Amino acid sequence: MEISLYKRTMITDYLKEKQALVDHAIEQLLPGEDVRPALLHKAMRYSVLNGGKRIRPILCIAAAEALGKPADEVLKPAVSVELFHCSTLIHDDLPCMDDDDLRRGKPTCHIAFGEANAVLAGDALMIHAFELLAEHGNAQLGLELARAAGSRGVIAGQVEDLAAEGMKPNADLVEFIHMNKTAILIKASVRLGAIAAGADEKQLEKLTVFGEKIGLAFQIADDILDETSSDEVLGKPAGSDAEQDKMTYPAVHGMDAAQSKVRELTFDAIAALMEIKNDTTALRGIAEFLMNRTF
Ligand code: IPE
Ligand code: IPE
Ligand code: MG
Ligand code: MG
Ligand code: MG
Repeated sequence: MEISLYKRTMITDYLKEKQALVDHAIEQLLPGEDVRPALLHKAMRYSVLNGGKRIRPILCIAAAEALGKPADEVLKPAVSVELFHCSTLIHDDLPCMDDDDLRRGKPTCHIAFGEANAVLAGDALMIHAFELLAEHGNAQLGLELARAAGSRGVIAGQVEDLAAEGMKPNADLVEFIHMNKTAILIKASVRLGAIAAGADEKQLEKLTVFGEKIGLAFQIADDILDETSSDEVLGKPAGSDAEQDKMTYPAVHGMDAAQSKVRELTFDAIAALMEIKNDTTALRGIAEFLMNRTF
């Protein structure tokens, strides 16, 4: 799918604007570095305020905006999903998991603050995410994130990802891992914005399909980049999957099939958007941006 330079510039500007909004909200919503215990709050802020792409909160905002709810009315749900995501990154990098020492271009949390503080900073961020959702005041949002995040969601994916290291290629298994460790949270990000904006049944159904498709595409693209990019561009160690003998999509299906699958899922995601009447230009732009991303 070719996107025109004009459209590419528009989505780049949209992402930049929303990144700044999300960064500002995170800054406000996380305890300051001077709050006791200072070391913990430093570790939390270090691991969140460090230049992530902010795709999940931006998807939450874009879904809400598509249904007519302004960004500043969904900032707590948006930040909440980013905090949960960052907590999974801290834990994912630990020596007992993927054992990586670089994240977003800086030493990982456990390298900078020690393993115990990294475990606790991850725990605290996860809990803070639910505190923000409770403050937002719509109980359905807490349920939504809890279901996506827990032992039948992201954590299920992480457990099976670790258990699958060194196993022979298995198409069903890689699908389960990718759907759970990554796609489910991206889907939840879209749904949080949609639910907060009062989506009707059809809107929620189509946006859910959109979120799930781009979510799976996202992890396949992450696997591809792990093989084809560099530490400098990614800001995290390239080649980490091969080193840990991970069950990745290219390892199971081959690189060409992986690349085609990212495109196919992105088309399907955009097709789902076309079934609702709302202005979904930004969501479509994000899907195309993610399909073509280099980091
Ligand atoms: C990395 O997510 C972890 C995966 C689920 C693949 P991102 O690629 O969104 O990482 P940041 O937030 O931009 O650092
Ligand atoms: C990450 O998958 C999924 C979660 C953190 C839940 P990866 O292990 O592939 O993510 P990166 O490549 O370390 O960012
Ligand atoms: Mg991992
Ligand atoms: Mg990892
Ligand atoms: Mg990866």
